[in-house]
Amino acid sequence: MNNDETQITWNYHNGTKHPNGIFLMKPHFYDPALRPYPYKIYKTLKGIPLPNDKHSTLPAIKSISEFISQNKSNNLSDLQSLSHILYFSSGITKTINYAGLGEFEFRAASCTGALYHIEIYLVCRDILGLDAGVYHFDPKQMKLDQLRKGDFRSVLVNATADNFDVKHAPVILVYTDIFTRNSTKYRTREYRHAFWDCGTIIANTLAMCNSHHFRTKVIMGFVDDVVNSLLDLNQEKEVSLALIPIGKDISVFPEEPIEIEKLNLPTEPLSNYNYDDPEITKLHYASSLTSLRQVSSWRSKNSSIQSYDSSTKDDVLEPKLDEISVGTSIETVIVKRGSARKFSRKSISFQQLSTIIYYSTHGICMDFLQNYGDSIIDLYIIVNSVENLKSGIYYFNKKSNSLELLKEGIFRNEAMHLGLDQDLPGDGSVCIFFMTDLEKVLDKLGNRGYRAAQMEASIIGGRFYLAAYSQKVEATGLTFYDDEVTEFFSPHSKNKNTMFMIVLGKK
Ligand SMILES: Cc1cc2nc3c(=O)[nH]c(=O)nc-3n(C[C@H](O)[C@H](O)[C@H](O)COP(=O)(O)O)c2cc1C
Repeated sequence: MNNDETQITWNYHNGTKHPNGIFLMKPHFYDPALRPYPYKIYKTLKGIPLPNDKHSTLPAIKSISEFISQNKSNNLSDLQSLSHILYFSSGITKTINYAGLGEFEFRAASCTGALYHIEIYLVCRDILGLDAGVYHFDPKQMKLDQLRKGDFRSVLVNATADNFDVKHAPVILVYTDIFTRNSTKYRTREYRHAFWDCGTIIANTLAMCNSHHFRTKVIMGFVDDVVNSLLDLNQEKEVSLALIPIGKDISVFPEEPIEIEKLNLPTEPLSNYNYDDPEITKLHYASSLTSLRQVSSWRSKNSSIQSYDSSTKDDVLEPKLDEISVGTSIETVIVKRGSARKFSRKSISFQQLSTIIYYSTHGICMDFLQNYGDSIIDLYIIVNSVENLKSGIYYFNKKSNSLELLKEGIFRNEAMHLGLDQDLPGDGSVCIFFMTDLEKVLDKLGNRGYRAAQMEASIIGGRFYLAAYSQKVEATGLTFYDDEVTEFFSPHSKNKNTMFMIVLGKK
């Protein structure tokens, strides 16, 4: 299987479309009482406790949208800052007791079905309070499990074909996905959820790093097998999705190749659901990069695919930071964040909507995008009720920072239907669909482009969550009927596929 055989992505994407995707046809029952244990436990590793520092840093909205260049970055040099970033990326922020189901621990970022299938590893040099090594983050015990001792960053430098940011980072986070912890409920769609639920965590990580003034970049291009082997993953069950180098480091680390020994570290079972879905495995392997040459060539195709083609400027956004948003720290927002379970039909203001869109879409440093601000994602919006804005359907023109009215009207029933016949999108104020021209993306980036598009959409989606709560607006991610969304926004959205959906509104 090869990254250029993009029929494999099309088979997967079409086969997992709601409502009639061929891979969703088999009957399946999920019992929430049998939800897999949502933490990876290493049986034999003694953890290093993490300092529990929850102090506040920058205002949320600034943290979400800040751009930090390599030469302006601080150095990540202590365990305290690292712990702060990890906790607000994926730590436990609240516990709720549900009758019949027991206690559920909710985490810093949203996750489909609260199944928490994404784990975080890190590879670092010596920093204050932590020796160089390869570690797993355990959010349950707030500790790091050391898998390997010593500086292994050169393995990641190698695996990313000398990526500049990886080469200059003291700490590199690696996000992994345990398939069966989520496929137990969502079956073959799990591979979409992998990126959705990783993207929301990464949105938090990027915001936290910005608040510390650390440079970051999201790396999607790497030799999969090398990274997975470094983390000692059982690749049939758990795989790496993205790397994030953090901060800048002027010190030199060993360049000579390091032999990666197999560790086979014993863990508790990764999930109580053991069916390895062949369609997920097939797409994952078909989108894997297998050599440095392939990584370099993949990265060199990073000129973006833009669709800023429209010239009308119907409603120019009016982002504005009032005293409340300036005073609300990113930590407060992350702890407050939760997915709305019910919306009233009240309006949000045009200023709130403007601020949320403007700051969430500022740009993400990702290795497949040439320049900060480039994007392969377009936003299509149903406005149900926003003060001083006509109800209707819109396209967000990023270049002119405006909402282009495609059709005026009340579309609450349609929104409800498109969001899998749930009440939330009909009752919310605004529904946002993150779409991409998948054919163009796959032509350029091969199957790996599917991972890239899902990930970029989900990071922007995660930012929408944070920006919304910073503006006292509630939000929830949502699932959708794929082809009907494309049809609904057509002809403007012709050939575009939905990657992510979010609804904003008032409680
Ligand atoms: C991409 C995405 C899609 C989601 N889809 C739905 C959905 O279709 N219906 C729903 O009620 N909640 C949905 N959720 C919300 C999750 O159930 C929620 O994030 C999870 O229970 C964790 O709760 P929290 O976000 O409050 O921390 C979705 C969340 C995400 C990130």
